[in-house]
Amino acid sequence: MQREPIPLADPGTQMRLCEASVRSALDRVLTSGRYILGNEVKAFEREWAAFLGAPHCIGVGNGTDALALALWAVGVKAGEEVITVSHTAVATVAAIEQIGAVPVFADIDPRSRCMNPAHLPGLISKNTRAIVPVHIYGQPAPMGTIMAVAKKHGLKVVEDCAQAHGATVGGQYVGTFGDAAAFSFYPTKNLGALGDAGAVVTSDPVLADSVRMLREYGWRERYVSLTPGRNSRLDELQAAILRVKLPYLDCNNSRRRLVAAAYTEALRNSTLVAPATIEGTEHAMHLYVVECTDRPAFERFLNGAGITTGRHYPLAVHQQPAYAGRIRGSRALPITEALYEHLMTLPCYPELRDEDVAHISETLLRWSSQSWAKQRNGTSRTAEKVTG
Ligand SMILES: Cc1ncc(COP(=O)(O)O)c(C=O)c1O
Repeated sequence: MQREPIPLADPGTQMRLCEASVRSALDRVLTSGRYILGNEVKAFEREWAAFLGAPHCIGVGNGTDALALALWAVGVKAGEEVITVSHTAVATVAAIEQIGAVPVFADIDPRSRCMNPAHLPGLISKNTRAIVPVHIYGQPAPMGTIMAVAKKHGLKVVEDCAQAHGATVGGQYVGTFGDAAAFSFYPTKNLGALGDAGAVVTSDPVLADSVRMLREYGWRERYVSLTPGRNSRLDELQAAILRVKLPYLDCNNSRRRLVAAAYTEALRNSTLVAPATIEGTEHAMHLYVVECTDRPAFERFLNGAGITTGRHYPLAVHQQPAYAGRIRGSRALPITEALYEHLMTLPCYPELRDEDVAHISETLLRWSSQSWAKQRNGTSRTAEKVTG
């Protein structure tokens, strides 16, 4: 019997697994009579801060707004530069431009695929105000070095944690290293809502107060705007759903890591490059991304075996029409550009059945032995030519 293709992500199954609790949480909101910034948002802010070991959390509309509001609150002004990476979701750069700031791109490290802090000093100008490292795919960026560079140059750091709920560096959760951090709870994230949702996390009470005001027209007191702000509040219904799912985050992340370990084991003797294991860090395995030399053929092979694949992302940000040719640093991104020719994302999420994980692992093994056989044949043909 033909099997259904294994999807790249499956937030519907996750929701179905906790449907009864979600429905009763939604009922609680329904009967509360308080639909904006009520008890659910307050409770989720407390619970998410407690999970991370961060003193303050402010729920906002989505992850892009979380980044923009955090940058605004740390004091980034229109026209000032913010150094980030081009190997990220466009959202990171959109958030910087949302507040009128100017993105600048640093190249990445080929192993972590995150910002390479060695490039920062060469990019810092009089106009630089902040750094936004991105914990891409769930792999923590090297926060120790990034914080040291920031401190030396008097720069603020806002971590983009949209893909890294529960990732750690030295046992400490990402999101607790910088001046502030931004999380997205987009439905497919490691902690996902049923729509858009986000949060800013910080240990600085003054910064927390600023973000709280900025998310709602600059109000500290209702209807009195102390500063210009915007409307980006975490929805009460989404907060209630996130509270249902938060207790499962650790267990779901462990399952993601198990799935990832099975794929990495299958790729042990392969020409494909698996995500690196970086000492001292724990990956959140939001996305399992391999590097392959013959991407179209690999994609056909996997899709033919009923495995949906993805590309995160088809283009780096500096290659996107909206950004091409206008972001400083774009001409010195050789590692980012080389990576983009080879990226391929495999299904990796907690709801994958054991048989799906086994099927994907076996398919990876089959691809690897075929590529070795092709390489061996190629080598012996070349040897024949040389000796013949
Ligand atoms: C790295 C990164 N940053 C920021 C965002 C923005 O989050 P949201 O979609 O909630 O605005 C995302 C979400 O896709 C992301 O992956």
